Amino acid sequence: MSESAGTTNMGNIAILISGTGSNMQAFIDACESGELAARISIVISNNPDAAGLQRAANAGIKTKCINHRDYDSREVFDAALCSALQEHDIDLVILAGFMRILTPVFIEPYLGQLLNIHPSLLPKYPGLHTHQRALDAGDKEGGVTVHFVTPELDSGPAIIQARVPIQAGDTAESLAARVLVEEHKIYPLAAQWFLQRRLQLTNSGATLDGEAVPETGVPYQ
Ligand code: GRF
Repeated sequence: MSESAGTTNMGNIAILISGTGSNMQAFIDACESGELAARISIVISNNPDAAGLQRAANAGIKTKCINHRDYDSREVFDAALCSALQEHDIDLVILAGFMRILTPVFIEPYLGQLLNIHPSLLPKYPGLHTHQRALDAGDKEGGVTVHFVTPELDSGPAIIQARVPIQAGDTAESLAARVLVEEHKIYPLAAQWFLQRRLQLTNSGATLDGEAVPETGVPYQ
């Protein structure tokens, strides 16, 4: 981690987005409030129209668009992402609604420093349409999981999980909105644990304060 002004060591974070960027905004807010001791060095979007790019620019954060349509393969796109991050001495990469499947070209160099948030109670419902799938299955709860990213889609070791009761009359949209409130709490918290060196990815999974994290993550209260 690089040295900032004064004596505090601040982690350098990169955030990758594709859309609205409400989770990214939660990181901006957490950095501003001091809840998260980090600097957001760069926000990258694969989508030139991502609303989050403007939100980041409004907060004075450097932004970059790397449009995946300009690249012939996922691997070449991932190599461009790597080059963009290499300029910034990044400690932690945050995928925040980043809607591209990453290959080992990107994942391997950042393994153990790469987090994602997935809007389901993993290992349930990897992939898309998670809230609708929870409703269709008659589940009593939905939720969200922050996890380390490994080459397998949505299945790296879980870090923290928040549960949300499903209410009568819920739609995928109403459930998503309640889950999103929890996303904005647990994602900066997981990043803070990481930057405090409390959270690590080991060969046998995630550890927090040297203890194995449960398979479904630390339950958020
Ligand atoms: C969130 O629901 C997140 O869990 C999922 O994509 C959505 C991104 O929302 N991976 P936002 O762009 O952070 O508002």
